[in-house]
Amino acid sequence: MNLLTLETTCDETAAAVVTDRLEVLSSVVASQDELHQRFRGVVPEIAARAHVERILPVIDEALRRANLTLDDVDAVAVANTPGLAGSLLVGLSAAKALCVAKDLPLVAVNHLHAHIYACRIASGENVFPCVGMIVSGGHSSLYRCAGPTDFHYLGGTIDDAAGEAFDKVASMLGLPYPGGPAISKAAEKGDSTAYAFPRSFLNDPSRLDFSFSGLKTAVRYAIAGPGKQDFSALDLDEATVANVAASFQQAVIDCLAGKAMLALKKTGISTLCVGGGVAANRRLRQRLESDAAAAGARLFIAPLHLCTDNAVMGAIAVEKLNAGLTESLDLDALPGLVRQ
Ligand code: KG4
Ligand code: ZN
Repeated sequence: MNLLTLETTCDETAAAVVTDRLEVLSSVVASQDELHQRFRGVVPEIAARAHVERILPVIDEALRRANLTLDDVDAVAVANTPGLAGSLLVGLSAAKALCVAKDLPLVAVNHLHAHIYACRIASGENVFPCVGMIVSGGHSSLYRCAGPTDFHYLGGTIDDAAGEAFDKVASMLGLPYPGGPAISKAAEKGDSTAYAFPRSFLNDPSRLDFSFSGLKTAVRYAIAGPGKQDFSALDLDEATVANVAASFQQAVIDCLAGKAMLALKKTGISTLCVGGGVAANRRLRQRLESDAAAAGARLFIAPLHLCTDNAVMGAIAVEKLNAGLTESLDLDALPGLVRQ
């Protein structure tokens, strides 16, 4: 059985073809980074319009690379939550149109659950039950995942997501968007103990939550002081940028690794799966590896190409199909402003 999966939750237009045996026949990702770069963040209206232009060529290309036509597709899956409303609608409309035209079943994918499922696809192993941690531009969340269709929210950020903090701090430091890769590169030459940035909730074992907004403000105060600032006028030297980047990155990593380990302890689960764009961070990966080894836990981190947004992880739809979980054509786009 061939499943066409679509992903348009934020600023990547992606399509993939996977089989019900989780073989990946093709994967196409059209990034919009160059459209949002000059704004140093995703502009929702630009993202939605770019999805409209790209979705059909991306689907065509995914089918072509899989050596298939639409007639060979047995079901269509689409990420319908969470994400930017306008962006979600484009993928959802395309998926529904294909289902109507070809009389195919429609499967709804939760984008966050899919980020965790990237670990299942890449490893080829049964990763469940696990603690799932999603660290991306829009989310930093922990789940107890009893099985591929059974996710329970344990906690997450109460303000900014980890990736969002990377992007905003990069902007303050005059580094390019997306900020994660730029900060991690600058941090390599810096001293991670140069600045004592806050690690919210880290010493509170009762909470599995994060807060990165105060950390972002602490960076701002460290480089510019309080009050209105034109960051482009700061003219920071290379050593300061490197030290701030390294100290900031270390604070984020301490929080993420600390709460991931606490979640394992609290749930009694011994497997940790990590996905999302920030999971591409080399230092975070190293830290999770050493912490998991010390805790005697199994660790799966999505490979780099499956950390950032892609449609392959939408293969979680195979599990939903197997469980008979298909949708009617009135399926809605749910931006998911309430975290759960
Ligand atoms: O999962 P993703 O592609 O999109 C969302 O669903 O949000 O994540 C994008 C985020 C951006 O904020 C980006 O700065 C961050 O992932 N990111 C990184 C790294 N690569 C990407 N953050 C830290 N270190 C990296 N190497
Ligand atoms: Zn994502």
